[in-house]
This record gives sequence, structure tokens and C-alpha cells, in this order.
Amino acid sequence: MTAQMPMIEMRNVSKHFGSVVALKDISMKVCSGEVMCLLGDNGAGKSTLIKTLSGVHQPTHGEMLLDGEPVRFKSPAYALDAGIATVFQDLAMIPLMSITRNFFMGREPTVGWGPFKRINWKYADRIAKQEMAKIGIDVRDPGQPVGTLSGGERQCVAIARAVYFGAKVLILDEPTSALGVKQASVVLRYIAKARADGLAVIFITHNVHHAYPVADAFTLLKRGGSLGSFRKEDISREEVLNMMAGGAELESLDAELAEFQRSDNERKTSRVSKPTDGDVDADMPNARLAGGY
Ligand SMILES: Nc1ncnc2c1ncn2[C@@H]1O[C@H](COP(=O)(O)OP(=O)(O)OP(=O)(O)O)[C@@H](O)[C@H]1O
Ligand SMILES: [Mg+2]
Repeated sequence: MTAQMPMIEMRNVSKHFGSVVALKDISMKVCSGEVMCLLGDNGAGKSTLIKTLSGVHQPTHGEMLLDGEPVRFKSPAYALDAGIATVFQDLAMIPLMSITRNFFMGREPTVGWGPFKRINWKYADRIAKQEMAKIGIDVRDPGQPVGTLSGGERQCVAIARAVYFGAKVLILDEPTSALGVKQASVVLRYIAKARADGLAVIFITHNVHHAYPVADAFTLLKRGGSLGSFRKEDISREEVLNMMAGGAELESLDAELAEFQRSDNERKTSRVSKPTDGDVDADMPNARLAGGY
């Protein structure tokens, strides 16, 4: 796998917003058929990195390569045309528009010539229904508004669209953060399918249970810099958790709660060990606490 040409690569990329250095000297690569999970605290630069890859921002320094070729995107439309599809948390869909319209979004198939050219809705509906069926979502009527689908299904329309239009790179900025377990697993399964289809996937999530099962590698950002990339076999679930936004807080919260429990235990033990003639119930709460935690 290491000898494989990366599908997408960043070389020493920096991004400045005036005096703010949002990214500094980032190098990262993702091969086709691989899921890279981007980790880091709030404000670490994750969104800036993917916006730079997807043409929203231009890098201040450094270069980006797509399939070995240097690229520079003037706008997201150029990145999309080159095969980099990005799915944002909320901006992915227009809720009042139909599933078919959202699926094609400006790339509707047409029939006829010149002044007689019109959108081939019948064909478009059939493709939208068929592509959704491929991922196990049965759409009764592709003309129904996307807003009537569940959150997970909506994310899947966006991913299905990227795959159908031949994306080589799929970028997902927290696609599962607002979803329940069942819906998130639909999206995760589809990410795994996109990988099996040979896409290079970059995935941002704050949930270790979502990141760990699908990722092949992890890149850690901290205050705009990269702390390196790790293969999954070299990093444990706990280490990944600590590198995520909020991971450090969770750890200190854990320590605080353990300390709290210890002092609580001590307090109860000292109360129980006092000579309390005939007080047979005194050690009950303590036993329950020790066993229940
Ligand atoms: N357009 C902008 N102008 C100025 N500063 C910006 C701009 N976009 C991002 N930044 C700054 O760059 C830094 C990185 O922000 P970014 O949104 O990339 O972080 P993030 O890792 O996505 O965080 P989160 O986990 O909260 O989404 C922040 O300090 C932010 O204030
Ligand atoms: Mg962000």
C-alpha cells in the first residue's frame, strides 16, 4: 500500500487569514481505497484543511496533487469537476427540493436538441431510485422532497451522488454528528462501500465509535499544525479518543469523577467504621456504591 500513488496529497500546505495562521506546513496523503480520519480539537484547522482541498480556500503556501498532478482550484466547482466531492453537515441538501433534483443538482440528464432540449425527468427519477436502492434505501417516490428523508438517508443521497458522478476523493465533514446509532451506521456502511469502490475518503468526526471501525489511518491536527499520520494498526481506540476534539476534557473529567468517587467512598467508609451499635444497615449504601460502579 505504501508504494501506491496517493490519490490526493498535500505538500507543506499553509493557510493564513490575515495574521491568523489556520494551517501551517501540512503534508498528508490518502490513497484510493483508503479512509483517512482527521482528528483534532476545536479550532485545530480540520475544516480549513478540507475547505482548502475542496476549493473554498486557496492555500497561501504549498501544493496539492490529485492523482499525482499538481492542482489549484479557483472555486469548489473546479474541485468537483476534478473529482473531489465534499459533503458538509448541513449544506449537503436542499430540503424542499425532490430527491432527484438533489441527486443531480445542476447535472440533470437532458433529451432533445437546441430549443427542444429538456430535462429527462423519467430517466433522472429512475437513476436516483436505483442508486439509492444500491445502498439499501428504498425510495418510494424520488419526487418527494428530500426533507421527508431521515438525516442519515439525506447524507446517503449526498454520498451516492458523489459516487455516481465519478468522484475520486470523498470528503465528509462530520456527516454523522447529528445522527442516532442506526442512522449513523447506515452512513458508516456507505463510507465503507465508497472505499471498496476505490474512492479516497477523508472523514472528520468527533465520535471515536464512528471513526475507529471505518478508518485505515488517522491524521492529527493541533493548532493548525500536523502531529503526524498513524496507521490504524499502530494506534489504539483510546489513543484516538484522546486525540479527538474534547478527548483531553473527557480524560480530565474521568480523573475528576474518579477522585470524586474516591472521596465519597472514604467519607462513607469512615461513617461505617464508627462504633454504631446495632446499626446493621450502615454498610448497605457503601456496598451498593462499590459494586455498582
Ligand atoms: N475565514 C476565516 N477567517 C479567519 N480565521 C479563520 C477563518 N476560518 C477559520 N479561521 C480560524 O482558523 C482556525 C481553525 O479553524 P477551523 O474551523 O478549521 O477548526 P476546526 O478544526 O474545524 O474546529 P471545529 O472542530 O470546531 O470545527 C480557528 O482559529 C479559526 O478561528
Ligand atoms: Mg470544523
